Amino acid sequence: MGDDGGGFGLVAMRIFWQESMGFGLSGMDAEHRRLVTGLDNVCLALHGRNLGAAGHALADFIDIMTGHFSTEEDLLRRMGGDAAEHHLAVHRMTAELTENLRIAIEVDRSLERAEFLAAELVTQWIRRLFHEDAALAERIKALGEIPA
Ligand SMILES: [Fe+2]
Ligand SMILES: [Fe+2]
Repeated sequence: MGDDGGGFGLVAMRIFWQESMGFGLSGMDAEHRRLVTGLDNVCLALHGRNLGAAGHALADFIDIMTGHFSTEEDLLRRMGGDAAEHHLAVHRMTAELTENLRIAIEVDRSLERAEFLAAELVTQWIRRLFHEDAALAERIKALGEIPA
């Protein structure tokens, strides 16, 4: 299962919330903070080589992510514009990668594959999500309020 304690497993891939990750929108920032912390809990369980704990942490992360994406997607639909399609695609691809991580943990029980996929989320997808959200946050701030 590639779980021999050696090889090229990632060493302590973690992610931490920093104030600089905030966009100055309290609701969105609070959700992003929960998202980052939820993903770090998955990393921590994988680092401890505990697939059971990783599965529980991932279920929590998926709840947070699903709720957050649906809030933002409602907002994107209300605001319209051409940026929405790309933003929705980044959400969808992140959700797909997260589903592959769930399969690695719960079905394949592969620590090595789970570590690889978690690292993809930490190093690439969180950045892409925040990149899309930065543009959304700027539009909301320019409007002066969240559209009803
Ligand atoms: Fe987003
Ligand atoms: Fe977001």
